[in-house]
Amino acid sequence: MSDLPDYVLKNRAHWDAQADQWVAMGERAWLADEPSWGIWSIPETDLQLLPDDMTGMRTIELGCGTGYVSAWMARRGASVVGIDNSERQLATARRLAEEHGVELHLIHGNAEQVPFPDGHFDFAISEYGVAIWADPYKWIPEAHRVLAPGGGLVFLGNHPLVMITQRHDSADPVGTELLYPYFGMHRIDWYEDGDEGTEFNLTISDWVRLFNAVGFEIVAYHELQSPTTGDEVRFYASMDWAHTYPTEQVWVLRKRS
Ligand SMILES: C[S@@+](CC[C@H](N)C(=O)[O-])C[C@H]1O[C@@H](n2cnc3c(N)ncnc32)[C@H](O)[C@@H]1O
Repeated sequence: MSDLPDYVLKNRAHWDAQADQWVAMGERAWLADEPSWGIWSIPETDLQLLPDDMTGMRTIELGCGTGYVSAWMARRGASVVGIDNSERQLATARRLAEEHGVELHLIHGNAEQVPFPDGHFDFAISEYGVAIWADPYKWIPEAHRVLAPGGGLVFLGNHPLVMITQRHDSADPVGTELLYPYFGMHRIDWYEDGDEGTEFNLTISDWVRLFNAVGFEIVAYHELQSPTTGDEVRFYASMDWAHTYPTEQVWVLRKRS
């Protein structure tokens, strides 16, 4: 019997099954000269989520998927650990690392429990990895534990507004009706049984309370907007919707010294 939580096992099965569909996107992102973020490809020059020079920094990507964010950090000089819950996603990351000649240390596991000692890393990041697929009451304290004092944590995922305006039982894009309670948001089982995966999100005030309780200071908070209007739908939102409301949030945190 595994001692992994039910949602970690379900998300593992979900991502192992989905992995083939993410190969092409991963390959494109690995080819990019400059990072861009989220579903609207906001350029790194606008958000500045990564230090320009990461020479000698010990970094970890929590839920690295196909590994392109890890590659961006390695190319800036960092030594990079990528941890992911899906062996099949890691297989893509391993192949791309080999093809691009980028050295990554890729490990299979639940990033709510990172197999490294306290204070081991200078920087941790998640783009749609644990940022949305793991329980923040577990992974945020764990990220704090493995960071050195002053270390940075950056994570990007869905804005909480999306969780209350997108049906949890269909693939329809977000609408303008408030479908679910905002207060109390935590675990979201897609299609109720979680067969399409289980995500987590918090109200903005609950995120802030959690950071304070764990020992992170907030350096920046971004609500991402589609730069253009139009009826093109990307993943779960049209450009018009995402030009009017935030689809994604980015938290930039620092471990208090
Ligand atoms: C959308 S991908 C994001 C990663 C990367 N940015 C990408 O697009 O390839 C989500 C990844 O999070 C991973 N994941 C989900 N839950 C996890 C957990 N508890 N620990 C580590 N990885 C997890 C999944 O296996 C999946 O590869």
